[in-house]
Parts: sequence; C-alpha cells; structure tokens
Amino acid sequence: MNCRVCLTPTRPVLDLGRMPLANAFLTAEQFEHEFHYLLGVARCPRCGMVQLVDSVDPRRIFHANYPYFSSTSKGMIRHFGNFARETLSDARAAAADPFVVEIGSNDGIMLRHFVEAGIRCLGIEPSSNVAAVARTHNVPTLEAFFDAETANFIRSEHGPAHALLGANVVCHIPDIHETFKAARILLAREGVFRFEDPYLGDIVRQSAVDQIYDEHVFYFSIGSIAYMAAAHGLELIDAEPQAVHGGSMRYTLVPAGSRMPTARLQALMQREASLGLNDESTYARFRSQIEEIRRDLVGVLHKLRRGGARVVGFGATAKSATLLNYCQIGPDLVEFISDSTPAKQHKFSPGMHIPVKPFAAFTERFPDCALLLAWNHAEEIIAANANFIANGGRWIHYVPVVRVV
Ligand code: SAH
Ligand code: TMP
Ligand code: ZN
Repeated sequence: MNCRVCLTPTRPVLDLGRMPLANAFLTAEQFEHEFHYLLGVARCPRCGMVQLVDSVDPRRIFHANYPYFSSTSKGMIRHFGNFARETLSDARAAAADPFVVEIGSNDGIMLRHFVEAGIRCLGIEPSSNVAAVARTHNVPTLEAFFDAETANFIRSEHGPAHALLGANVVCHIPDIHETFKAARILLAREGVFRFEDPYLGDIVRQSAVDQIYDEHVFYFSIGSIAYMAAAHGLELIDAEPQAVHGGSMRYTLVPAGSRMPTARLQALMQREASLGLNDESTYARFRSQIEEIRRDLVGVLHKLRRGGARVVGFGATAKSATLLNYCQIGPDLVEFISDSTPAKQHKFSPGMHIPVKPFAAFTERFPDCALLLAWNHAEEIIAANANFIANGGRWIHYVPVVRVV
C-alpha cells in the first residue's frame, strides 16, 4: 500500500489477519453476521507514519450505538480536567471572548470544564448516543464528522477557534489530510491545535499489540506529526508525554511561525531519534515480543484451567478485542469479562464471544485470577479492588510481559 500521508510505498510491520470491530459488542443473534476486516499495519519509510493497511468506513464504527463513554474512569475524568485547565489559560490569552472546539468530544468529559468556566465552546461528535450525554451536561455538541466542510460551517457560525482540541480522535480519522486542512480552516491566527493520542514509542517499547485495532488508523510519533503540520501551514511547537492509555503524547500545533517551539520539544525529538522508530529491526523485535506474549499468556491460561482455577477478564476494552482474537482466547479460558459500561453488559465480546457482565458479577464471587484487559487503568483498578487481592485473587498482566501477581 502507499502511505496515506505522502503516497510513498510503505513497508509491512504486522499482519494480524481477520478481526472483528473492536467496539462491536454483540448479541448471540448477531454472531452469524459478524463483520470482519483485515488488520494489518505498515510504516512509511519517507514520512515515518505508521498506519493501518486497510481502514474501515468510520460510519460503521461511530454511530448511535457507540459503546465507549469516556467518563467511565475516574483517572480519565481527572486527566481531562487538567487538560482543560491548562488550555483555559491559553484560550484566555488568545482572545477576550475565546472559542474552544473539541473534536471527538464524546460524553463531554473535557468540554464541561469550559462550560463551567463560561467559555464559548462546541463539541464535534458523530456518535449520537454519547453526544446526547454531553448535552445533558450542557455541552453544546454538533453531531458530525470533523472535516473541511464542518470546519467551514463552524467558522461561519461561531468565528475561528482559539483552541482546537482532540484526545484519542485525530488518530481515528482515516483522511488525515482532511483533518489537518479542516484544523487550519478553523484555527484563529493566535489559536492552538492541541491533541493527544497513543504514542508509537510507547506501543513499541511495551509490545502493546492490543493498541492496534480498527479505530487506531495511525500510530503517531513526534516526527510524523511534525511532517503533517508542515504540510498544512502549521508548526509543531510542543509535545508532552502523558501517562494515560498506556502512554500518549500531547502535541501543540500553531499556524506556522506564530510561536517559538519549546526546549522540551527539542529534547523529546532527540529522545525519539534514539528509539529506532524508522528501523526495520525495531519492528522485527516488536513482532517477536508480541508472539512471546501470546505464547506465555495462552500457556498461563491453559495451566490455570487445568488446575481448575476460575479466570475472568477485567474491562471489556476495545484493545481487548485485538488481544483476545490474536491469542484466540474464548469463554473456555476466560469465563466472562467484567465491565461497568451498561452498553457493553449482557452482550458478547467481538470475535471470541466472551460474555460481558456487570462489575457485580466480579465481586459476588471473586475468581481466582483476573486478566487485566484495561491495563491502561491498572493503578485505578487495582487500588479500587484491594478486596479481590485480600481474598486471594491474582491479577494477570500481559504488558509489557505476562505476569501473574
Ligand atoms: N475524546 C474522548 C473520546 C475518544 S473516543 C476521550 O479521549 O475519551 C473517539 C471519539 O471520537 C468517539 O466518541 C467518536 O465518535 C469520535 N469521532 C470519531 N471520528 C470522528 C470525527 N471524524 N470527527 C469527530 N469525532 C469523531
Ligand atoms: P479504555 O481502556 O478504552 O478507557 O476502556 C476501559 C473499559 O474498562 C471501559 O469499558 C470501562 C471499563 N472499566 C471498568 O469496567 N471498571 C473500571 O474500574 C475502569 C477504570 C474501567
Ligand atoms: Zn509517508
């Protein structure tokens, strides 16, 4: 395939074969007609962008029954409160009556802070069910996919944006040139485009194969974002590592030449250069490490089952679809998955069809072991479930290596 960014022929990174959509939790009646696609990753030797080989039509993924609600984790609520506060001062410095827009605003987890502060804001959110929750928090929300047409419409209705924000969404949009073009259209001259996504360096470092799924079309690095910015009259002036979602990077872009890049950006670029993100050997190592994870995890689960132990999954994450299907882990090895999201409960996991049950099913009768599928929320989950450990339970981790503790 050719790179979506610069059209150069790409190099294959990984081929994970046929996969279901990561957030397509389903009922038993739907098993027969389950949708699958081919999941493969490639990297561009020219611009450095790591990307899916084939992407799925976004309308198949983001719709009225999108089951991911951002506010299900206390840690994420805190994280987006901080993100909002940090941006608030930037927006206020840019204009007397600043306007803030968020792409993929979901249930309003971030924008509600701007609403509370009395700042004009607008969320752009195509999944109508999560957008409806945002509106209950008084977050003005436009039900649309962010593109040049949407950007022009918003600019004509509200004026330019002094802050354009996005979290875990820019990497979801297959037409990345359209996204950046739209950002340039909407952004005020003094504005900032600030977004964060899982960081390629962390994915490779931790062998986090489960970060790869249909919604993650791109696996960004500082280098690939700097390239994208330059192609659209923007400039990357800052980057900030974030601990969330297993390691993310927050990028700040401005209209080219409007602000000086930070010293932090320089330092992070130097660090990135040492990670080997453009070397084939890095991905050869990644492939052998994820195979080791699969071998070890399947081995541990079979051993536990032979010993009569009960194992359940914790957190029916989108990521877990890749892990479970890649390892072919089904209900014979993992009895059910506990998840606090009503939209996922009483359904089955994509592909492997493990039942998803409410948290009460976990606490009513603790299993012997719990596979921590929501490993990005490990600290929060382990702390909140100290009684599971107190009852002799053990957590099974699989990133960066398989461990039972
Ligand atoms: N920002 C939230 C939600 C991330 S999930 C968080 O970090 O928790 C990605 C969200 O982006 C979904 O709610 C999805 O509906 C939305 N989305 C997907 N494609 C989009 C697009 N082209 N424009 C705007 N939002 C989009
Ligand atoms: P995420 O990794 O994409 O944020 O998804 C986390 C999933 O885990 C989501 O479906 C909510 C669920 N979850 C729980 O069930 N219990 C918890 O304590 C936490 C933090 C998340
Ligand atoms: Zn390229």
